[in-house]
Amino acid sequence: MNIAQHQLDTIADGLAENGYAVVDHFLSEDEVRRILQLDDFKNALLHFKKAGIGKSTDKQINESIRGDYIQWIDKETAPPEIKVYLHRLSELIAFVNQALFLSLKDAEVHMTVYPEGTYYKRHLDQFRKDDHRKLSVICYLNEGWQESHGGQLRMYLPEGEKDVLPVAGRLVCFRSDQIEHEVIAGTRERMSLTGWILDRIA
Ligand code: OGA
Ligand code: MN
Repeated sequence: MNIAQHQLDTIADGLAENGYAVVDHFLSEDEVRRILQLDDFKNALLHFKKAGIGKSTDKQINESIRGDYIQWIDKETAPPEIKVYLHRLSELIAFVNQALFLSLKDAEVHMTVYPEGTYYKRHLDQFRKDDHRKLSVICYLNEGWQESHGGQLRMYLPEGEKDVLPVAGRLVCFRSDQIEHEVIAGTRERMSLTGWILDRIA
């Protein structure tokens, strides 16, 4: 399965005009379900590591900024259920390169779980001038997620705040160097594949 042309156009137009884009059904319901059934995700809190920030090793500081657990994906050994997603990201890279005259080369991706009540305070994904992260790309895996569950991605745009619910199959993509954002605490465990498209090989 390829990305639909209208989805690719939405992503390229959104990035060019607003610095971000949101597309639904980037992964199908079945594709999401198969990813959630992987052992990694089923026992995520056992397998994943507490995410850190920059070089900080102070657990208390970390905890007050972000509460998610992550596991980096190794492209070579990733299970087929994850490779479906990685292939789609490659397709996305090829398309935005051609549509927006970029020379993006690769992606780095981790599996992510935010336990109930955890959040990630307002931040920018690029924190150094020489950062190779150009686009942040997140695909959500939460079936039946409702507004009342919270857990929004909140982007801070020149025109105001834009909230995105982390519903299953939805992809959000934004410029890593420009868009400050945060993850609002949710009332359910919140899962995603979180990644960055780089201008070099990972
Ligand atoms: C991040 C992040 C947003 C989200 O991991 O850097 O901002 O919606 N994630 O999960
Ligand atoms: Mn971020």
